[in-house]
Amino acid sequence: MSVLLKEMPYYACWFARCKLLGQRRPLQSVIFITDRCNLKCKHCNVVMEGPYASTMTYDEVRGHLQFSYDAGSRIVDFEGGEPQLWRDRVKGADLNSLIDLAREIGFFSTTVTTNAQQPITARSDLVWVSIDGLEAEHDYQRGPGTFSKAMRHIDEATHPNMNVNMTVTAHNWRDFTGVAKLVRDHPKLKRLSFSFYVPYEDRGLVVPAEVRAEITATAGALKQAGYPIMNSQAGMKLMRDPKSFADKRACWISNFVRSDGTRVMHCPGQDAGVCDECGFGMGPEMSLLFRLHPEMVLAGLKVRG
Ligand SMILES: C[S@@+](CC[C@H](N)C(=O)[O-])C[C@H]1O[C@@H](n2cnc3c(N)ncnc32)[C@H](O)[C@@H]1O
Ligand code: SF4
Repeated sequence: MSVLLKEMPYYACWFARCKLLGQRRPLQSVIFITDRCNLKCKHCNVVMEGPYASTMTYDEVRGHLQFSYDAGSRIVDFEGGEPQLWRDRVKGADLNSLIDLAREIGFFSTTVTTNAQQPITARSDLVWVSIDGLEAEHDYQRGPGTFSKAMRHIDEATHPNMNVNMTVTAHNWRDFTGVAKLVRDHPKLKRLSFSFYVPYEDRGLVVPAEVRAEITATAGALKQAGYPIMNSQAGMKLMRDPKSFADKRACWISNFVRSDGTRVMHCPGQDAGVCDECGFGMGPEMSLLFRLHPEMVLAGLKVRG
């Protein structure tokens, strides 16, 4: 029996409980295991430094994983800061120890998002590498030399399910097609997902409405032409205007744990008051998933393969 066939009864049951009984159970957990990072990207709202930086211990992560699993979640994304930097030296544990732990607890799937400034060694089911433009733009956003280092580590990695996430900003949007080509033509990369910059603090990188429309249209046409773009056509239409699906948002499908241990049962963007300017590709996709949109369901199944 295929892995997905084994998981399907759980997903069906989750859907029935949430749709028919009105329960609000997460399916995916995003755990910020550290807010330390080896970069200081211009668009990033996460990284803290000095005394404000926190990192979870192995036992703390275990507690948050168990809590999330008991709440209903079966997919976990290890986030940061830079998750590949995470260590618990007392326990002798690294990121792969957390991935193993999540599997032991019963999570169906594990994901890591990385800046790839170190070799990609995560054994998660899926790896997202952040590439925010071709060399000049990526380096502008993330720092000199970061593009070539990330590409070298992608070239050297042996992970079978490596993907790219691009955060589109007012500065780098002209590189979108170039990044799509890079992903299409790279033998080790499977697909590209993109989000628009979300203005938690700085408004300087906010993507104007007309550029959002242009990028989603370009992405739609590239996808139609066979480029491996993960965002669904229906999701990209909604991404044009985050207000367009305000009454259908299902951002509770992911629960979040901040690196200081704070648990939030919905996207933290809600508390920051940025929903009407949300750019996360996942936002529309979750709302489509909850409406059982066939394209979204299919995309969800494919990304696991
Ligand atoms: C916070 S980073 C953590 C993982 C890793 N350090 C990395 O850069 O991939 C995860 C993703 O969030 C994106 N991100 C950070 N700040 C953002 C913002 N304000 N709006 C949209 N995406 C953002 C990053 O570009 C990255 O792809
Ligand atoms: S590498 Fe990731 S966590 Fe670090 S500053 Fe950049 S976006 Fe933020």
